[in-house]
Amino acid sequence: MSFAQTSVAPAPLLNTLPQWSALQSHALAQREAHLRDLFAADPARASTLSVEGPGGMFMDYSKQRVTPHTMELLLDLAHAKGVRARIDAMFRGDKINLTEDRAVLHVALRAPRDERILVDGVDVVVEVHDVLDRMKVFADSIRSGAWKGHTGKRIRHVVNIGIGGSDLGPAMAYDALAAYTQRDLSFRFVSNVDGTDFAEKTRDCDPAETLFIICSKTFTTLETMTNANTARDWALKAFAGDVTAVAKHFVAVSTNAQKVSAFGIDTANMFGFWDWVGGRYSMDSAIGLSTMIAVGPAQFTQLLDGFREMDVHFRTTPLASNLPVLMALVGIWNTNFLGAQTLAVLPYDQYLDRFSAYLQQLEMESNGKHVGLDGNRVAWETCPAVWGQPGTNGQHAFYQMIHQGTPLVPCDFIAFCEPLNPLGVHQDLLIANVFAQAEALAFGKTRAEVESEGCAPWLAAHRQFDGNRPSTTILCPRLTPMMLGRLIALYEHKVFVQGTIWGINSFDQWGVELGKVLAQRIIPELSGSAPTPAHDSSTQTLIARYRAARDR
Ligand code: F6P
Repeated sequence: MSFAQTSVAPAPLLNTLPQWSALQSHALAQREAHLRDLFAADPARASTLSVEGPGGMFMDYSKQRVTPHTMELLLDLAHAKGVRARIDAMFRGDKINLTEDRAVLHVALRAPRDERILVDGVDVVVEVHDVLDRMKVFADSIRSGAWKGHTGKRIRHVVNIGIGGSDLGPAMAYDALAAYTQRDLSFRFVSNVDGTDFAEKTRDCDPAETLFIICSKTFTTLETMTNANTARDWALKAFAGDVTAVAKHFVAVSTNAQKVSAFGIDTANMFGFWDWVGGRYSMDSAIGLSTMIAVGPAQFTQLLDGFREMDVHFRTTPLASNLPVLMALVGIWNTNFLGAQTLAVLPYDQYLDRFSAYLQQLEMESNGKHVGLDGNRVAWETCPAVWGQPGTNGQHAFYQMIHQGTPLVPCDFIAFCEPLNPLGVHQDLLIANVFAQAEALAFGKTRAEVESEGCAPWLAAHRQFDGNRPSTTILCPRLTPMMLGRLIALYEHKVFVQGTIWGINSFDQWGVELGKVLAQRIIPELSGSAPTPAHDSSTQTLIARYRAARDR
């Protein structure tokens, strides 16, 4: 079947399914139910609505506004939408990314060496392990100091240049796994086309000790190529223009060997990946080269093993006890039946500082769509806005709104029992806070309780908490490379299930194209004095003001 002919058989619309109507009626009937009452009515609620997954990852969704019956209805919907068959199709390598005619096989990136997954007759697992083996040799040579720069010095600074999926995953993983990194190497991540990003990240780097990893699936992305060119100029200036230095200070991660070579990087120093890996699903491909250098090949393998464990769980566990599926269904309930428009992801671990930023791309670039696989506009909500900060910082900033604001903000709390830095009382205080937040959100504080504490009646309304604000708590034993892999795969598969239910393609990103095209049109208009071609009056005014300031 050619790309142009690709289409999906018309399926009944999501909102015409009887399973959807059943959920709507149930939502209406449940409208007044408060978590206080749900817990009081069902003493076993915490055990019924919680599940333990791989590596002791415990997911408690009993503080979501669901009952066991809600979950049954949601599972009916998942079955009606063919979630199981679609999981199988993804793992089999079917070209489920219809608009780009591609397989979706990030799961092959962590498949064991002896597994076979065919795409167009080629066993991609062999290719994955070939690249991993080359990455290991390279990572070891940087870590040991065997790899020398142009002047014979060892590498001390690794600068990853990339954006979106070629930045967020490696940057997040470097922070998340900082405790496991080789501390005599520094790692920096340059993504923004704003020259400040490059200037600030490299200001204290000696070019003779700096390695640039240019990460770009396409090797055409404006930001990355601009930063890569700036990096090359910066390095060559230090090496008196000797272009032979490039081979010692630049490596590339890309699917585009031609462009890499045209940039001047020897393809012997290129680590490939494949069009069946979406950018936002690529941190465990060669895009993770900086991660592997930072934590070493053995711990990178553990990271992959963690992903793999969650893949196996996702593929083989019945939907009713399948972590990513349950998480996805709870999200569907909140978005489509309770009207939530956002999801706050709140890790109680400083190492997960960039986790929400990473998830923003994973979730919002995947499921921020309003056109279904059938080419029609969907008539239901899709991806919520994802945001968050590590606790407890957020508690002193935006939690006020989560507790007492008007929007409903479902939260994912993530915490680890064992601290990586056991310092005095810190860990108990941290964990007490995450548990307390989830409890306060769920149960609130009634007016009667407030008044019984002697609060003046006129003040009581301000000090009362409605509660009934939903959250899930993911409690894990310890943040390790393996646990990070499990956690990311959990969210990857959650996104997949939600995309399946909403009937959208989670694997393209046409929505970012228009802005890129218009920027290309405006770039030449910012310089010179010729009148700018007609834009709207707002854009025209802004261009004129910028030109006047620039030429001053
Ligand atoms: O913003 C769109 C996008 O294509 C992302 O999906 C991708 O992760 C990012 O740009 C970077 O793309 P590339 O790796 O090709 O430079």
